Amino acid sequence: MAKPKSFYFCSECGYQSSSWLGRCPECGKFGTFQEEVVQASKTGSIAKNKSAAGASKPKLIRDVTTNETQRIPTQCGEFDRVLGGGIVPGSLLLLGGEPGIGKSTLLLQTALSIPERKVLYVSGEESEQQIKMRADRLENNERRTQGGELYVVSETVTQRIFEHVDSVQPDLLIVDSIQTICTENIDSSAGSISQIRECTAEFQRFAKESGVPVLLVGHITKDGNLAGPKVMEHIVDCVLQFEGDRNYGYRMLRSLKNRFGSTAEIGIFEMQGDGLREVANPSEFLLSQRDENLSGCAIAATLEGARPMFIEVQSLVSSAVYGTPQRNANGFDFRRLSMLLAVLEKRCGFKLGAKDVFLNIAGGIRVSDPGIDLAVACSILSSNVDIPISPRHCFAAEMGLSGEVRPVSRVEHRIAEADRLGFEKIFVSKYNARSLNKKRFGIEIVEVSVIEDAFRALFA
Ligand code: TYD
Ligand code: MG
Repeated sequence: MAKPKSFYFCSECGYQSSSWLGRCPECGKFGTFQEEVVQASKTGSIAKNKSAAGASKPKLIRDVTTNETQRIPTQCGEFDRVLGGGIVPGSLLLLGGEPGIGKSTLLLQTALSIPERKVLYVSGEESEQQIKMRADRLENNERRTQGGELYVVSETVTQRIFEHVDSVQPDLLIVDSIQTICTENIDSSAGSISQIRECTAEFQRFAKESGVPVLLVGHITKDGNLAGPKVMEHIVDCVLQFEGDRNYGYRMLRSLKNRFGSTAEIGIFEMQGDGLREVANPSEFLLSQRDENLSGCAIAATLEGARPMFIEVQSLVSSAVYGTPQRNANGFDFRRLSMLLAVLEKRCGFKLGAKDVFLNIAGGIRVSDPGIDLAVACSILSSNVDIPISPRHCFAAEMGLSGEVRPVSRVEHRIAEADRLGFEKIFVSKYNARSLNKKRFGIEIVEVSVIEDAFRALFA
């Protein structure tokens, strides 16, 4: 028997080295190297790789047939939207998210409702009884259609998972979670970098050879990266992230990488007592209900992927009690907030430098669309002068460093949605408004070119 070999792996990026290193030459992080005993068996991955390479032959691209039409629809509109229209046969998907966010619930719910398909759900975390208890909870979910056959098994060794696959012959394999699975080909413990890497590669080989799509669950670390090496993200075809604030019921499914669709789409769900409900009209929950006019609130007409979303921005500006003013941003980039404050200070002449500024995006979501800038700036100004902005006004523009109000993408889309939701005025950049056919819309379109224009229009 060969002597066990140990290697050192960077826990950030998966870089492999035969000796311990203080700093990873690949990603530059310090103190991330961990020792792992790696023992490849004779029938291990290398031998398999060779045989697989021998079996395939180069083909003319026009002779290659695609199975695009055979995507497996999941019966969950939001999930399908993010995937780009269903699960592609032979693909390897990774669903990441913080513990307790609802990954297992989403997958079990999906597995239960896929019609006319056999699904094998392998859990390394829960027993069959626990899975059944969860399924019973979801049973009452009236949106669930009658699904196909679902097989469940509690298993952690890949070789045995493939035996179960042979006996069940599923159309879709779900593995919850990759961190609890190990392969017999390697001698280190489950969840270690070499195990995750090898198991992911085994599932990929299986998916490509059999055409059965595999959905893996992965945990993410405190700083938001997928636990385990980045190499996993390179191997898989599609990386989905399930995120949300645990204090709120809303969850967003984003795709960070998708070889078969756009990464711009997001899916929105609400966690309820009997599972996840799809939210088709996100603006309904992002606009908080308020009757009174309160200062510091402004509504942004943002776009996530192809979908318009109306989001309420709230801010509070008050005199700093301590020498150093406090700044806090929930759901908005902190550095961007500092930049907007600097612009407002310079252009509008407010001494915001001596004030505490707190910013909150309602609903506990994160917005990446820069079109929210103008709403953020106006909500800060509103709180500062303590004059409310009408809840029937909304904003869609980006801000530049010199206080100019810049155009946003697909402005017609946002205006049409604002019109549909019954807003009275929408503030957009002058450069956006040029090419618009304003007669098409019933809503009043206010054109602004610099932030002072918006300030005068709202508070003068
Ligand atoms: P879970 O899917 O176990 O999370 P993950 O697999 O990502 O770790 O979801 C856990 C949370 O969801 C748990 O705190 C309870 C809540 N939940 C509901 O609110 N309603 C439900 O119907 C279910 C099944 C879970
Ligand atoms: Mg889970």
